[in-house]
Amino acid sequence: MLKFFFFNAVHLSGTKYGCGVGGCGACTVMISTYDPVTKQIQHRPANSCLFPICSLHGAAVTTVEEVGSIKPRIHTIQERLAKCNGSQCGFCTPGKVMSIYALLRNHAEPSMEKIIAALDGRFQTVNCKKYNKGINIHSGLCNTEEFPPVDPTQEFIFPPELIVGLIDFWLVIGAACCLAQLRDILMKAVPKLAEEKTKIYQAFLQHLRTLAGEQMRSMASLGGHIVSRASTRELNPISSVGKSVLNLASEDGKRQILLNDQFLAGCEHADLKAKEVIVSVLIPYSMKDDFISAFRQAESQKNALSIVNSGMRILFSPGTDTIVDLSILYGGIGSTILSARKSCEKLIGRQWNDQMLNEACRLVLEEIFLPPSALGRKVEYRRTLLVSFLFRFYLEVLHGLNQMVRTGQELHTHISVQATIHTPGQPPQDPVGRPIMHQSGIKHTTGEEVYIDDIRPVDGELSLALVTNIKAHTKIMSINASEALQVPGVVDVVTARDVPGENGKDEQAYAEDKVVCVGQIICAVVAVKIVYEDLEPILTIEVTICLLFNNRFRILELEYLLDHRREDKEMDVYVSTQHATDVQEFVASALNLQYNKIMCHMKCVGGAFGGKITKPLLFAVIAAVAANKTGHAVCFALERNMDMLITGRWHPFFGKYKVGFMNDGRIRAADFQCYINGGCTKDEFESVSPSLIPLIGQCIYILNLLVRGHACKTNLPSNTAFRGFEFPQAGLFVETCIVAVATQTDLPHEKVREINMYKRVNLTSFKEKFDAENLWKCWEECLDKPDYYSKKKGIAIIPMKFSVGFNATYFHQVTSSNQSLVHIYIDGSVLVTHGGIELGQGIHTKMSHRELKIPLSYIHLCETSTTTVTSGKYTAGSTGTEINARAVQDVCQILWKHLDPIQRDNPNGKWEDWISEGHKQSTSLSATGYFKGYVTNMNQDTEKGHAFPYFRFGVSCSENIGTDIVMDACFTINPAIDIGQIEGAFIQGVGLYTLEEIFFSPEGEQLTLGPDTYKIPAICDIPEQFCVYLLPNSCNSIAIYSSKGVGEARFFLGSSVFFAIQDAVAAARKERGLPMDFTPNSPLTVERICMACDDVFTEMVRLFSSLL
Ligand SMILES: Cc1cc2nc3c(=O)[nH]c(=O)nc-3n(C[C@H](O)[C@H](O)[C@H](O)COP(=O)(O)OP(=O)(O)OC[C@H]3O[C@@H](n4cnc5c(N)ncnc54)[C@H](O)[C@@H]3O)c2cc1C
Ligand code: FES
Repeated sequence: MLKFFFFNAVHLSGTKYGCGVGGCGACTVMISTYDPVTKQIQHRPANSCLFPICSLHGAAVTTVEEVGSIKPRIHTIQERLAKCNGSQCGFCTPGKVMSIYALLRNHAEPSMEKIIAALDGRFQTVNCKKYNKGINIHSGLCNTEEFPPVDPTQEFIFPPELIVGLIDFWLVIGAACCLAQLRDILMKAVPKLAEEKTKIYQAFLQHLRTLAGEQMRSMASLGGHIVSRASTRELNPISSVGKSVLNLASEDGKRQILLNDQFLAGCEHADLKAKEVIVSVLIPYSMKDDFISAFRQAESQKNALSIVNSGMRILFSPGTDTIVDLSILYGGIGSTILSARKSCEKLIGRQWNDQMLNEACRLVLEEIFLPPSALGRKVEYRRTLLVSFLFRFYLEVLHGLNQMVRTGQELHTHISVQATIHTPGQPPQDPVGRPIMHQSGIKHTTGEEVYIDDIRPVDGELSLALVTNIKAHTKIMSINASEALQVPGVVDVVTARDVPGENGKDEQAYAEDKVVCVGQIICAVVAVKIVYEDLEPILTIEVTICLLFNNRFRILELEYLLDHRREDKEMDVYVSTQHATDVQEFVASALNLQYNKIMCHMKCVGGAFGGKITKPLLFAVIAAVAANKTGHAVCFALERNMDMLITGRWHPFFGKYKVGFMNDGRIRAADFQCYINGGCTKDEFESVSPSLIPLIGQCIYILNLLVRGHACKTNLPSNTAFRGFEFPQAGLFVETCIVAVATQTDLPHEKVREINMYKRVNLTSFKEKFDAENLWKCWEECLDKPDYYSKKKGIAIIPMKFSVGFNATYFHQVTSSNQSLVHIYIDGSVLVTHGGIELGQGIHTKMSHRELKIPLSYIHLCETSTTTVTSGKYTAGSTGTEINARAVQDVCQILWKHLDPIQRDNPNGKWEDWISEGHKQSTSLSATGYFKGYVTNMNQDTEKGHAFPYFRFGVSCSENIGTDIVMDACFTINPAIDIGQIEGAFIQGVGLYTLEEIFFSPEGEQLTLGPDTYKIPAICDIPEQFCVYLLPNSCNSIAIYSSKGVGEARFFLGSSVFFAIQDAVAAARKERGLPMDFTPNSPLTVERICMACDDVFTEMVRLFSSLL
């Protein structure tokens, strides 16, 4: 594939690898071809991970390196994206640059619809504001005057020799035509034709807006789409009902066949013959009395295969509503596309009315039968979709017959932010409070930021692959590596027996005896035969009731690790982690070495969110043991599916509550029981479980509160605490309880929230004193924004109170290195090293300190390493910036003390003069700094002490088209980065609460192992109106520069979308007189929404099923 060719053969690392299945867009490049018909050069974005090199004949490929680089110069797209803070961790930014670049090469002035289409093949992968900023750049929301205009001489020239050599085999809709070209052709053709002729083309266009992403549409051919005939190929039902004809050719000659239901079912008489190919596809015009519609329902709006899709066509006798011809085809139900041919035949001659509809639904449910055990799950939902599509078709046709015109909806995307800025009189070189560009912003956009996977191989480097367990609970009887060792290229097989020291701690790096989940690592290198003895697996914590939470967490950068061996038993470990010290400790223990022999390095990590704290430790041990055994450097990266299989996910959460309340909504007592599915090992469970008590209070004051947390051990991969450390689960649980109280008392939800919210200075349930003033300010400001009270349904306003940091001083502790934290060199330049790891949250950018009072250009921050900073703690808990900034502040103050006499002697001198003089006077220009950490020490048993440094507040209000967020970020160190964090975290929360669903087989095998099955938000999931406000005039005396950590908490605000949907479902149920005491589970997916509405279609399906 092209992606690997770049890295291995031409040594280009700008194009990244995120999933390998065309689902994330990180590997996007531009493919250019010459179109001999239009005599124009076509530029298309494509996923290089799926692009075979052999298919590049006659094509030119442009990678991000070609678009622009720091040397000689960056492209204006890269510059704008970086300067408008359009990147965060930057891992997939080169792919985004390529998507925009390909768009602009074809359309100098693209419409908003085109911009969104260009970006919809990309996932909202990390908590980044990338998408919205990407839109801003093109929609004029940025101040374009700040940027130089596009320089056409910088554009890559299509090689002229490719124009000469191309063979002309292009047809108007040739089989080789890609789906994006098909869309462009149809978009040009439709306005030129009479409307009645274009109905089938309109249906095609409807699907082509949502089918996959732009990269995939640019690669997938119409011929391939038709021939593959999979049930999810959604253009096929429309082609079939539209009576399309396939022009075929082979060495025996040419012929035509119908693209009908029999062809799609693969019937031999209707199929291609051996060696026959489709040359072109004839798609006829529609007729005056024709109605054609296309339907699809997927887990997310775009870039997701449909759950069910359909093409429907009806022809009436001229001037009447009598059916002359009817075709209905469904995809997503069986292994091939299914036709409701018999039902349609029975309906011919009938009038288009309600009786016919009822009959049609019954017939279709009978004919398109889906047994409860059908593959693909969601059986009841899929059956419901069969009839609800039919109902929508019925209405559309009825409207058509009544000559009612459907108007298209215009897409308005309005993204607005409000940022605090620096204080008046602040010196110009002081960066605090200013929207400074991410220090790696330019390198993100040019692809020059070096992630672990981009490090070039060293001599003799070996690759490592894992062999994982395939059953949920087993005992290893033997591991026979002999066959694997005979495979050419295999050097060794590494097992637990090769670990000289400790084989991990709670969780084993290599399985030793019993294997406790599918995906547990047994050995490393290549396939070996493993003999198992089956033991009884436990998979869920609650078998009779659905889990409230069941998500993985997505980090686009895969888990990477590179171990280099050096002399004197030293080992360099390059790893994508949030906690270098632990990696050092685990590797040292595994190899029986002192810590001082293990050098752990992190340059930048492509997203982490808590997922790179515990798991990389084991990977580090695995690679280090292999490097130790073989004597070679070992490189090891998990493929996306292995990453999702092994590294666990959020703790699935199941909660039960009992709540006592008054008629006015005041909650008097609550008993919360929480069960957390920890998976097969403890991981962070011992910290997670007690933290439920403070988290569960959220914003409401409950006089009598009992919280009980239960850790459940199961035979699933070990789960871990992701962003928010169980707050997303606990917060949703408490807010669900509030909704239940509001429903019971028949009070508006916001009134119940208000009456129970902490007021003024108060004590939390765990006796922590805090002032709720800013919580109320956020609440009131947010209530004002969307004109809250005018909206009757489908709206929710959710408050948030989140505790920053950890209930242990030890975890806030930051040490500088024993050698140096800050070096000042004799030219005045400064090297700053601190213990925080750059995870995309802009920690290095925020660390560009005000203390030295010098321009930012003098300061450089390089990697985080155990060689310069010892005993550092996690970069986590939303405190990374503030505690490391304190350590840097400390060292800067020490250095100023060194320089003070020199400055006093020469008050009018410059920085360089003082440094030069300091050097001459043998003044130390290096120093280490230290921050002991916030004092937090609550004793869970005595309930005495101080649990958290401070609280952060925010409120989010969501309704059907928009979201407003008001955050108390106090005096933000960098508003550009913080607003991006808020926007990104919110969207990430929307994914968690509404999209991201994990499935396991009954045997404990995870079925959702990549972006094709596990859906995370894309650009289309950003609210059309999305406004973020930072609460003005707010201070925090505890954190540095009066700032507040903005890492994890905002994520929970995405739950306002969950509760807005719940509110809409409740309104629908109320209209039908259904009980209101329903509890939707998270994620509230389209399937769960549909089933919770319990409408006429779900009822029809249930009734029909009961009669069978
Ligand atoms: C990430 C991703 C997302 C997707 N999302 C969607 C979606 O939302 N909706 C949807 O409908 N589809 C979706 N698809 C499927 C996509 O539409 C098909 O993969 C694509 O249409 C197949 O086209 P291709 O050119 O890659 O075919 P290939 O895979 O190259 O070919 C498929 C088969 O057809 C044969 N073939 C190709 N051309 C001809 C010809 N002219 N004559 C005879 N045989 C031929 C090939 O030999 C092969 O056997 C998605 C695919 C991916 C990878
Ligand atoms: S790596 Fe190619 S699309 Fe994800």
